[in-house]
Amino acid sequence: MSIHIITDLSDAALAGQRVFVRVDFNVPMEGSTITDDARIQAALPTLRYALDKGASLILASHLGRPKARPTPEFSLEPAAARLSELLGQDVILPDDCIGDGVQKLAAELEPGQVMLLENLRFHAEEEKNDPAFSAALAALADTYVNDAFGASHRAHASVVGAARRFAFDRRAAGLLIKRELDFLGKALEEPARPFVAVLGGAKVSDKIGVIRALLKKADTILVGGAMAYTLMKARGGQVGASMVEADRLDEARSILELVSTSRATLLLPVDHVVAGSIDAAEGSVVEGAIGAEQAGFDIGPRTVALFGQKVAEAGTVFWNGPMGVFERAPFAAGTMAMARALAESPAVTVVGGGDSASAIKEAGLLDAITHVSTGGGASLEFVEGQELPAIVALRR
Ligand code: 3PG
Repeated sequence: MSIHIITDLSDAALAGQRVFVRVDFNVPMEGSTITDDARIQAALPTLRYALDKGASLILASHLGRPKARPTPEFSLEPAAARLSELLGQDVILPDDCIGDGVQKLAAELEPGQVMLLENLRFHAEEEKNDPAFSAALAALADTYVNDAFGASHRAHASVVGAARRFAFDRRAAGLLIKRELDFLGKALEEPARPFVAVLGGAKVSDKIGVIRALLKKADTILVGGAMAYTLMKARGGQVGASMVEADRLDEARSILELVSTSRATLLLPVDHVVAGSIDAAEGSVVEGAIGAEQAGFDIGPRTVALFGQKVAEAGTVFWNGPMGVFERAPFAAGTMAMARALAESPAVTVVGGGDSASAIKEAGLLDAITHVSTGGGASLEFVEGQELPAIVALRR
């Protein structure tokens, strides 16, 4: 392994040491209420490991996209409160992430104490990977751990510049990053076959890279969601008023050409749930051409059965992106059926964050999936084969 995992670090790097842990507490919120604390829960094994070793913890995270100044609605206060409940101990929350006050609090931390710095993105320097800001963060601690898999595709100060300021024996990935790399990496690089990838979501442009990568690895790629309509139109199909990325049709054609020479088979929906508008109270099922006044908003029942059978027969399944507009009840069936198909499949099942992870959670099936990634963009970039800057920063 070219990077250290926290369990590789010596006791000298942890016991009685101030350990900076970059976590991804960028959790979904409604007002000041956290609607899904999965990312906070996912950080606990690393935090508990370091606390058990006698470290004090200085945690840092971003939340949302504030405009580089302190903004109350982007405060990490709710995350600090939730973490305190989960750890069963106080969590100190200063009003900033750098500065004299924070430095003093960090210096006074006793072993076993936990401090969560205020939102890193209250400073423009975080996203600029600014050297002085990186140095100010690094000065707070003796040892650096990155467990923010969801932010690992960002070349920001807290995950790149700050990490590089610690000696190789004093910087490591946390247990969540290890788990993510194992499942998104090893499990998909050396998959039990057949390897079936299920891709959905609105835009084919977001998934071009991952389709190209999966065409080299997977046996079957099942495509649903609005991205399927761009591919269907590129193939000469009639998709009516369905969402199509007109400026991506050439790229879609080149993907279809690639499919014809690749080892993988790519299957598009054979039927659709259509309606005149996304606000319709119900949809109807159409096979083949979609009429000019209608748009597809979900995969139809024959497609559900076809995709479900491929998933049932798979050795490995990777799923990213909903099959339809699942936030709307009339168009949720395809995505929910896919969630159930993965849960019931004996395959190793890996779900790549974002909306598909929400669907799994909504269906109450989290425990039936081998690994649900905490990364949205990060998991896609990783599966595409891109180097994640935050992982590179941990290397020697
Ligand atoms: C995510 O939610 O995907 C990560 O926390 C990264 O957030 P960002 O897209 O705002 O950088």
